[in-house]
Amino acid sequence: MYSEKVMDHFENPRNVGKLENANAVGEVGNATCGDIMKIYMNIEDGIIKDVKFKTFGCGAAIATSSMATELVKGKSVEEALRLSNRAVMEALDGLPPAKVHCSVLAEQAIRAALKDYSQKTGIDLGLGEDEREFDCASFHHDTAQDDTH
Ligand code: FES
Repeated sequence: MYSEKVMDHFENPRNVGKLENANAVGEVGNATCGDIMKIYMNIEDGIIKDVKFKTFGCGAAIATSSMATELVKGKSVEEALRLSNRAVMEALDGLPPAKVHCSVLAEQAIRAALKDYSQKTGIDLGLGEDEREFDCASFHHDTAQDDTH
């Protein structure tokens, strides 16, 4: 059901924890499953020098958090903004359909941290007020039976 990469990132998650010198923090949650993801970033000169996460959630949420942090580490904020849940899933060799929303949560957590950075620094990253909020319910319509986490 899960790829080796998903299992690896679930069992040995990278970048777990809290970043004491974080200057950008993003937290998102999924009201339906109750999972919560928090991303800490240290951004210097527009580059994500370090990133850590804390995820209270399912295995796929932990694996996608881990992979998402790996994918944005060392990247510019602009590159990180372009990180899609699809890219996270591809890097993990896929996720079962019922777990796609977990990767969306990871994308949203990264964007929430970047939005926090933008608000704190006044640097316009093109994240308007209408930045799409995570609509948990829309990702759970077909996952109502998914109680495996
Ligand atoms: Fe809620 Fe994975 S994020 S089930």
